[in-house]
Amino acid sequence: MTGTAPLKRLYIKTYGCQMNVYDSERMADVLAPLGYGVTDQPEGADLVVLNTCHIREKATEKVYSELGQIKRLKQEKASAGGQMTIAVAGCVAQAEGEEIMRRQPAVDLVVGPQAYHQLPELIARAHRARGERLAADFAPDEKFDRLSTERRPSGVTAFLTVQEGCDKFCTFCVVPYTRGGEWSRPAEAIEAEARALAEKGVREVTLLGQNVNAYADPKGELAGGLAGLVRRLAKIPGLDRIRYTTSHPRDMDEALIAAHGEVPELMPYLHLPVQAGSDKVLKAMNRAHTAESYLRLIERIRQARPDIAISGDFIVGFPGERDADFEATLQLVREVGYASAFSFKYSRRPGTPASAMPGQVAEEVKDERLARLQALLDAQQRAFNAAQCGRELPVLFEKPGRHPGQLIGRSPYLQGVHVSAPDRLLGQIVTVKIGDASRNSLAGVLTSGELEPV
Ligand code: SAH
Ligand code: SF4
Ligand code: F3S
Repeated sequence: MTGTAPLKRLYIKTYGCQMNVYDSERMADVLAPLGYGVTDQPEGADLVVLNTCHIREKATEKVYSELGQIKRLKQEKASAGGQMTIAVAGCVAQAEGEEIMRRQPAVDLVVGPQAYHQLPELIARAHRARGERLAADFAPDEKFDRLSTERRPSGVTAFLTVQEGCDKFCTFCVVPYTRGGEWSRPAEAIEAEARALAEKGVREVTLLGQNVNAYADPKGELAGGLAGLVRRLAKIPGLDRIRYTTSHPRDMDEALIAAHGEVPELMPYLHLPVQAGSDKVLKAMNRAHTAESYLRLIERIRQARPDIAISGDFIVGFPGERDADFEATLQLVREVGYASAFSFKYSRRPGTPASAMPGQVAEEVKDERLARLQALLDAQQRAFNAAQCGRELPVLFEKPGRHPGQLIGRSPYLQGVHVSAPDRLLGQIVTVKIGDASRNSLAGVLTSGELEPV
């Protein structure tokens, strides 16, 4: 760490999606002017923030069990004469509000995803409620406005939120309730943040949004939605790779498909959740696409970019899902051929329409379907990785590997790649000949002459 030592220690634990990862970094930024420095140990921390996820029951329950542990640390610190402040942020905070403080009284404050700029003030208030004064003044308002350009990226890749919220109301999902309606950031602000990141050595950005391909510049200055934004960011010197996640099939327009074929900086990887392969289930989910329309869409995307890696999300055991419906999901998976995927058992979320639907599926049936689906998806992922063997791929080296003399990077298809390489290649994009593949990663060697960065 450089500069003066921070006065206070901040521990942030992040659950859920990449939006939360981005938000956690911004929370650390907003708290830095108040003298908080990030620690990776909760023991003895002055401020603990749990940035939570509400998407499935398990995710929510994890938060309460973690709070139980943190409470003990708070008590230990208090008996040693110190103070620990506990804050709950994120989607559980939004969905359950002050109920959290009733269930776990050790929690000092609860802050939803739209209110992180108020965090310094909320902390000050919690401190005052205990009769304490704050060690520093609040960050001035303009600090918040400038926050995004004052980011301190921790590596050569970074997340960049461009869109938040969701208006789709899939009947199983809490996101429209926890993150609110769809909202896009001005293209100008995004470009400024991306330029600042590139100047600090970032070479790859992942544009984030719950429905990132619904992006539309609110000021109307940038045409072409997400595709327009990608083309604009691709011009920034030093920014060599652009990714985006998560997309909804409904918003995958022709302009974005074309960009995949035409913008070399746009990486050949697309996370495009389908959720299920049965039209009856898709309709009950309110997904507004059919299995057929999704397959046709994938076909058009592959016409634009034949080598693109497709990834997805799946839910098994949605209310009313019969064996034949589940078979349709397997069939769709076979037809698409996924490079990677996430799959979940349907989790009943209070307040969502699906939680009140008849035909809730028994847990054992969900377990069995999930195991079958995951076996198929695993085999596809292995096959996709194995198909890279013998190829030469450009790899962006991100960090040292576990063994000395080894670096870990990413292929264009988002696969981790392990290579024996000198540290000076960190942050460089270098050609690697792939020799080995497993389910989760690739291994390869530098090709001759490529010790020179490309
Ligand atoms: N906006 C994104 C995904 C957000 S949530 C999209 O539409 O694709 C991430 C994934 O969690 C979803 O794609 C879905 O597969 C899963 N998920 C959401 N709610 C769920 C629930 N109630 N039970 C099980 N899985 C769920
Ligand atoms: Fe949830 Fe559907 Fe919105 Fe994705 S599109 S966040 S699954 S409601
Ligand atoms: Fe979870 Fe909220 Fe993300 S519910 S998946 S953290 S939007």
